[in-house]
Amino acid sequence: MDKISIDKVKQAVEIIQSSGNIVAFTGAGASTESNIPDFRSAGGLYGVGGRNRYKYPPEYMLSYTFFIDNPRDFFDYYRNNLVYRDARPNDCHKALSRLEEAGKLKAVVTQNIDGLHQAAGSKTVYELHGSIYRNYCMKCRKSFSLDYVMDQGKPVPLCDACGGIVRPDVVLYEEALDENVLASAISAVRKAEVLLVIGSSLVVYPAAGIINYYRGNKMILINKTATPYDWSADIVINGSAGAVMREITPGICDEILDEI
Ligand SMILES: NC(=O)c1ccc[n+]([C@@H]2O[C@H](COP(=O)([O-])OP(=O)(O)OC[C@H]3O[C@@H](n4cnc5c(N)ncnc54)[C@H](O)[C@@H]3O)[C@@H](O)[C@H]2O)c1
Ligand SMILES: [Zn+2]
Repeated sequence: MDKISIDKVKQAVEIIQSSGNIVAFTGAGASTESNIPDFRSAGGLYGVGGRNRYKYPPEYMLSYTFFIDNPRDFFDYYRNNLVYRDARPNDCHKALSRLEEAGKLKAVVTQNIDGLHQAAGSKTVYELHGSIYRNYCMKCRKSFSLDYVMDQGKPVPLCDACGGIVRPDVVLYEEALDENVLASAISAVRKAEVLLVIGSSLVVYPAAGIINYYRGNKMILINKTATPYDWSADIVINGSAGAVMREITPGICDEILDEI
């Protein structure tokens, strides 16, 4: 790490150590170290390889229109590209969970649908885009597990009570975010003293716009690459989410990492 980064890490450590009101905003980059591809990195689903494997661009295959018109192709794409049942939380998820346990972190606001924050032990998690672990029948609203959707053996998972299509409770393109989740996320960000923004390209709206509600002067942005919000952050640390979180939470994270 260069000198500038060492200084930034020191500042971030002091900010985190002295705050009892931290909120984290995470994107797909928080989960790439758990081997879940993000959308916009070179190896991500929107990368060249990702686009070429299918007839249509991922934005379209993950839209409500595509889901309704081509449910078989939707589920084929979804099951093979969005669901990683074996993924385990990495040091970023674990560090955030430990900060909450220590009473320092109030909420995680995430764009991720992979459930890894909860798997690491985080309790207050606002999932802006829903979760692969919640599924429901579009006709009778009966709830189903992820395993049901993955293992039923039908191209399109069908409700065992009424035969309706069982869909994941994830927000597709063209769909609105859940109002309650959005309101809670905004409220947490607005009240936060410290905002940690981790692994998001910050180009997907309205999710990315939530960080505009932050009123403080201690925004720490961690990303491998530049983002359109770097200018509004007080500290930008370019690096891997897990490694950087380990560096900036000494004491909290010293002994945690193999435990969860
Ligand atoms: N894990 C998941 O649940 C998952 C996976 C793929 C996509 N998505 C969906 O992707 C949409 C896109 O938005 P997004 O901003 O979250 O993702 P994105 O793919 O647009 O951006 C990911 C960002 O993280 C950075 N990054 C990648 N690996 C990193 C690492 N190890 N450490 C630090 N930074 C890293 C990239 O440089 C990029 O800026 C969201 O709506 C989300 O629902 C979720
Ligand atoms: Zn049903």
